[in-house]
Amino acid sequence: MAEESIRKQLEALRKKIEYHNYCYYVLDAPDISDAEYDQLMRELEDLEKEHPELYDPNSPTQRVGAPPLDVFETVTHTIPMLSLANAMDETEAREFDQRVKRFLGTHEEIEYVVEPKMDGLAVELLYDEGKFAVGSTRGDGFTGENITQNLRTVKTIPLILQEGEMPVPELIEIRGEVYMEIEDFEVLNRRREALGEPVFANPRNAAAGSLRQLDSKVTASRPLKIFCYAMGTARGVTFETHWEFLQTLPKWGVRVNPVVRSCAGIEEAIAYYDEMTEKRETLPYEIDGVVIKVNRLDLQATLGQVSRSPRWALAYKFPAHQAITRVVNIIASVGRTGVVTPVAELEPVWVGGARISHATLHNQDEVVRKDVRIGDTVVVQRAGDVIPEVVKVLKERRTEEAGPYRIPEKCPVCGGDVVRLPGEAAHRCISLSCPAQLKGSIRHFASKRAMDIDGLGTKLVDQLVDQGLVTDIADLYNLERESLASLERMADKSAQNICDALNKSKKKPLARFLYGLGIRHVGEHLSELLAHEFGSLERLSKSNEEELMAIDEVGPEVAQSVARFFQDPKNMEILKRLKKAGLMIDEPSVARLEKLEGKTFVFTGTLESLRRDEARDLVESLGGRTASSVSKRVDYLVVGVDPGSKVDRAREFGVQIVTEEEFKKMIG
Ligand code: IVH
Repeated sequence: MAEESIRKQLEALRKKIEYHNYCYYVLDAPDISDAEYDQLMRELEDLEKEHPELYDPNSPTQRVGAPPLDVFETVTHTIPMLSLANAMDETEAREFDQRVKRFLGTHEEIEYVVEPKMDGLAVELLYDEGKFAVGSTRGDGFTGENITQNLRTVKTIPLILQEGEMPVPELIEIRGEVYMEIEDFEVLNRRREALGEPVFANPRNAAAGSLRQLDSKVTASRPLKIFCYAMGTARGVTFETHWEFLQTLPKWGVRVNPVVRSCAGIEEAIAYYDEMTEKRETLPYEIDGVVIKVNRLDLQATLGQVSRSPRWALAYKFPAHQAITRVVNIIASVGRTGVVTPVAELEPVWVGGARISHATLHNQDEVVRKDVRIGDTVVVQRAGDVIPEVVKVLKERRTEEAGPYRIPEKCPVCGGDVVRLPGEAAHRCISLSCPAQLKGSIRHFASKRAMDIDGLGTKLVDQLVDQGLVTDIADLYNLERESLASLERMADKSAQNICDALNKSKKKPLARFLYGLGIRHVGEHLSELLAHEFGSLERLSKSNEEELMAIDEVGPEVAQSVARFFQDPKNMEILKRLKKAGLMIDEPSVARLEKLEGKTFVFTGTLESLRRDEARDLVESLGGRTASSVSKRVDYLVVGVDPGSKVDRAREFGVQIVTEEEFKKMIG
């Protein structure tokens, strides 16, 4: 059969090229010349052109990118992608070791594997029968974005696992970090600057920005790399130790950082950290610490996790990056809670790959303690994501005669009184009508992780508050298109978009809404927790401190803050108006029917009675999971009108196919 022989020829050619890619990008040891490689690629391209019906997304020719997407689909991680507990010094690293030993009830030395902590973006790669099937971001750890198309363009990610010394498993999820080397980052930024495009603050932002592109051709043009370091679900392969897993990955063509090491006991791990502290400056990529992991997987399982970090791993962080610069001015910045923070305006300086021009001085006591004055030469530091801060003043370099700085007695924004409440380090503007606070709280309410109101950014919020159109969050929902369009630099179309975004935001899960309210001490995690515990805004608003304290993780401070928030008649009035404006806050039912527990659904085609995202939410609210592509671990494929190739794949994998009607019956 001609067709069959061409298919075989194509497959062999694709495998061959992938093998040479692996030699070049993973082993760093090309075994053919560039010209020979180009020749093979041309051969493949020609053959694929003649036989478009034999298209394969995992062909090496597809690394240049695919047609742009409208949105990223979401992927639910079968095993959550956890975060790591931190240690800042040796004592904390030893305490970690003590905790591990105590938990395991042993006095013997623990075997650890130590690895650089890469400063990039965590991703998960799913290989189905050795073929790259789905790639996703970490997201919030539970669900991420499907960025398969983009990851295909990263040349150090194998599209097909190498079969050789080690058989390829039926299914494996491999986790790692996509990053950009410092030199590549600098070249990219120089090019962007020359083109008048905004530059990236640091290699990590550049890597993250490049991966979260809807057009994978953009990703393909960026110099991204990967190092892998962890495993999700695996079928058809087992390991006894993490070390064994790391040793196996390169055999499949998966890149592992060559400087990983196995250590007998915590002291060796600490010695590795010291070594890396020195080596750090010479590495071609940025790392922000080392990760220490218990080597034996059975011990990892016994140790389990606490909150959202495993007990068997630790991020032992490097001290923050520092630089020297000059304080040009000191200003008082008013935040969303009225706190007035002294901020040093700096002569811009590069610190650990980011350009900084402001650093926080925290509060008046800190300014006095460090004696920071305008004109001073100072050491500034930046640690990970946190705001840069002034560490100390180089007093010997003080030349100007600036006096000591004091936080102003009047709010620089509204002119109201600034006071320091007993027991607090912060000064606050106590005016209830301070626009700085109002603006901050509206920006927070509208932010991505809260109500996600597209287009309601800093500038617009400033305008709305300054013009008196909005005096609290409830006012947002009374905005009319006409009044928006009357604002300076606001086109009709943008006004309409904002109205649409506001309408869209009316339906949000309770947790997001709670987070958006900006209740003191209630961040994202606590919002989730409260939403889950109380199930409705109504119940939560009637709760008292005692009930709140009964919840694990809720301490007296949080309980008091939440209870006070809902006791405030002004706040309750705002909630009432929000409800009247049509806000329908989704409430997770308390007695959640875990009807679909453990079942994974995929949708294809157009559903007639509900939107795709609604269907997904429904499945998830009933304890099930959703995925965006069909694989063996999918239980049901729900088929709407005009289904795509997913149906074939479902048949191939023996996944049960159900109609929309049947699906509706299933969920009742
Ligand atoms: S292991 C449960 N190993 O650190 C442990 N993580 O705070 C899973 N990271 O999101 C992670 N280098 O982005 C691990 N060698 C390494 C790492 C590493 C960087 C990042 C990763 C993760 C974060 C956890």
